[in-house]
Amino acid sequence: MAVVRGFLGFATACRDFCVLVVLVLVVHPHRANGIRRALTAPSKDVKPSVAGVCAASVIVHGYKCQEFKVTTKDGYILSLQRIPEGRVVQKDGNKRQPVLLQHGLFMDGMSWFLNSPEQNLPMILADNGFDVWISNTRGTRFSRKHTSLNSSTTDFWNWTWDELASFDMPAVIDFVCGQTGQKINYVGHSQGTLIALVSFSEGKLVKQMKSVALLSPVAYMSNMNTALGRVAAKTFVGEMGTMYGDAEFNPKMVEVGDFIKSLCTYSGVDCYDILSDFTGKNCCLNSSSFDLFLANEGQSTSTKNMIHFAQTFRDGTLAKYDYAWPLYNEMHYGQVTPPIYNLSNIPHDLPLFLSYGGQDALSDVQDVKLLLGNLKVHDVDKLSVQFIKEYAHLDFIMGLNAKDKVYNQVVTFFKHQNS
Ligand SMILES: *[C@@H]1O[C@H](CO)[C@@H](O)[C@H](O)[C@H]1NC(C)=O
Ligand SMILES: *[C@@H]1O[C@H](CO)[C@@H](O)[C@H](O)[C@H]1NC(C)=O
Ligand SMILES: *[C@@H]1O[C@H](CO)[C@@H](O)[C@H](O)[C@H]1NC(C)=O
Ligand SMILES: *[C@@H]1O[C@H](CO)[C@@H](O)[C@H](O)[C@H]1NC(C)=O
Repeated sequence: MAVVRGFLGFATACRDFCVLVVLVLVVHPHRANGIRRALTAPSKDVKPSVAGVCAASVIVHGYKCQEFKVTTKDGYILSLQRIPEGRVVQKDGNKRQPVLLQHGLFMDGMSWFLNSPEQNLPMILADNGFDVWISNTRGTRFSRKHTSLNSSTTDFWNWTWDELASFDMPAVIDFVCGQTGQKINYVGHSQGTLIALVSFSEGKLVKQMKSVALLSPVAYMSNMNTALGRVAAKTFVGEMGTMYGDAEFNPKMVEVGDFIKSLCTYSGVDCYDILSDFTGKNCCLNSSSFDLFLANEGQSTSTKNMIHFAQTFRDGTLAKYDYAWPLYNEMHYGQVTPPIYNLSNIPHDLPLFLSYGGQDALSDVQDVKLLLGNLKVHDVDKLSVQFIKEYAHLDFIMGLNAKDKVYNQVVTFFKHQNS
């Protein structure tokens, strides 16, 4: 409950949730007023899980589950789970195909498991004969160890999604390929799509991929065009850096709540009214699952990562982290501006499935169109695009009807690419 209250505390401090607006989490449970209810008077005392993902979310449903640790080249020790098979083991003699699921910003591996086994993606994949792997990004609760750095120091938090792409992804993918001896199918949500896209655009990891599904794809962000979005992005680029340096950005932390509160006051933005315009309305969340979500998610990232997102929003291009001073960029990149990720360079024959929502304010339709513009040169028979009019950001991981709307299509796509 402590964590829930912390979460509620900071959110209500900002007149209900504008922090999550800033935080790139889009939350609006089914049938209105859900957020107010969930934040001010949770219907149940839902506790966050302290056990690992396997113990808390998988084994209890009768699936096998294994926990692994993977160390990145820059020393972060990530936790990784494996569901090697479904509840009913198919004896068809075929080797199980590995699938890796990569969560988004402020979430962790557990965010895939908030709905019942019949409704959540990893278990549906396992029951369809896949060997399912779940990764947990550095800084989230089960991936906060390092070979030499302590997570309470700023050095631990000196990274952005550039490093998630260049260190976390290859470490996890090498490990899964090594364990299974096969190429993998990848599923990313939100930030998990961004780090895949930029890696592939540099030609990295492609050889280890069999096929790729991108849910709520995030690449370009400049169409998150609301007043609060603009103010927040400006503030992250300007003040936030000096206020918090390279520190942890924990959405449950009091100081962050205070920061957001001052943001709402000083910008003249009414954080409450802007909510429904801004976040996008998730059509199809179960309020029990949503309570679980509030109890478990809101995972940490680095402040530097937030600044990098704000730069992407501001600049309308997809580039590496901007050190702001030409000299610093020169030092890091050998040029005065940060190098651009050119998504047109994603190999044209990489099988891609892309699903986006009409209500998703973070993966805005206009921004997805820019991404699709880059993919115009993609081989036609290797690109499958799905648009779900009523879906917003969270529906893709916890929509009650996501199985029918999205997951069955992902399964079919993977099976087709593998046949
Ligand atoms: C990290 O630092 C904190 C505070 O100084 C300390 O309590 C903790 O034991 C340290 N953790 C490790 C793994 O050394
Ligand atoms: C953070 O990492 C960069 C390299 O990625 C390095 O140049 C910089 O000095 C580091 N910052 C701190 C405060 O250690
Ligand atoms: C919502 O979640 C609860 C708790 O997991 C479950 O009992 C209920 O059946 C779910 N409702 C729907 C419509 O799936
Ligand atoms: C990206 O690459 C494509 C083809 O490789 C090229 O035509 C385009 O000009 C590049 N865009 C940028 C911004 O460099």
